[in-house]
This record gives sequence, C-alpha cells and structure tokens, in this order.
Amino acid sequence: MHELIELPTDKAAAYTELAAGLRALLTGEHDLIANAANFAGLLYWSLPQLNWAGFYLVEPKHGDLLLGPFQGKPACVRIPIGRGVCGTAAARRETVVVPDVHAFPGHIACDSASNSEIVVPVIRGDRLIGVLDLDSPVRGRFDGEDAAGLERLVRVFVESLGE
Ligand code: SME
Repeated sequence: MHELIELPTDKAAAYTELAAGLRALLTGEHDLIANAANFAGLLYWSLPQLNWAGFYLVEPKHGDLLLGPFQGKPACVRIPIGRGVCGTAAARRETVVVPDVHAFPGHIACDSASNSEIVVPVIRGDRLIGVLDLDSPVRGRFDGEDAAGLERLVRVFVESLGE
C-alpha cells in the first residue's frame, strides 16, 4: 500500500509535494484506468475538505462523459458534454472553479453534501480524454492555486499514459 505523506499547509508547496508523489505512484504503469484510480485515491486521501474526487472519461461511442475511477459516494454515470460543471469544463477545455454549486446554472447534484467544485479537463495531445472532478462540502474551497496545482498534477497523469 502506498503511504501518504502529510502535506504542508501552504497550497503551492502542497501541490509541489503531491506532484512528486503522483509521479512516483504512476511510474512504470501506462494504463489509463489504473493510473486514474490511483490518482483519484491520492487526491481524496491527501487533500483536505473533499467529499468526492474522480474522473469522468469521454466515451467514444456516444461522446458523453462516463463515470470513471473515483473516491466518494456513488455518482451520476453519464454527463453530456456542455452539461453541468463537468460538461462545461469539457466543452470549454478549461478549468472551471465553482465557489457555490447552488449558484451554478445547470449544476448536476450527485452528492447533496457538495457545496463547491473544481473540474479540470484532461487533454492528451489535442484530444479531450475526460475531466478530473473534485467536490467539497466547504463553500469557496477551491481557488486559482488549486486550479494551477491540479492542472500540474493532470499533466503528470497524462505524461504517465505515454505516447
Ligand atoms: N457536479 C457535477 C457532477 C458530477 S458529481 O459532482 C461527482 C457536475 O455538475 O457536472
């Protein structure tokens, strides 16, 4: 079992340590599902104040986002591109930070405990392969430092998948 380290309280420093931890965790394996599962587990058990962390992956047949590896309560299975926070981040291909999900038009409520959310697109080459979604019970939990830190972690994850 991978041992988790206690992260510094400074967010930027915490993401630097997480990036190194993630790289070590994924080294030697290129499988999308295996690496997404360990990435979700690392985030959920390392970052404070989360109630959900995981992936929605583009399903080639219908082009929807389909529930992928995650930690947290069971969640909505399919999200059309353009719908909810996940579908919006996928359509725009940019990170979406939502300080209060109840104020986000079209937000899809999977867990009533969630009050804020961040969704980071996962892009490999020029292809969108999915999104990373983090939910928190705390309003305003995510900011620009989380966006930058998580985008950096997503790059480590995409690199782990190889060519
Ligand atoms: N709230 C998301 C749906 C996924 S769950 O939060 C796990 C959305 O609006 O896209």
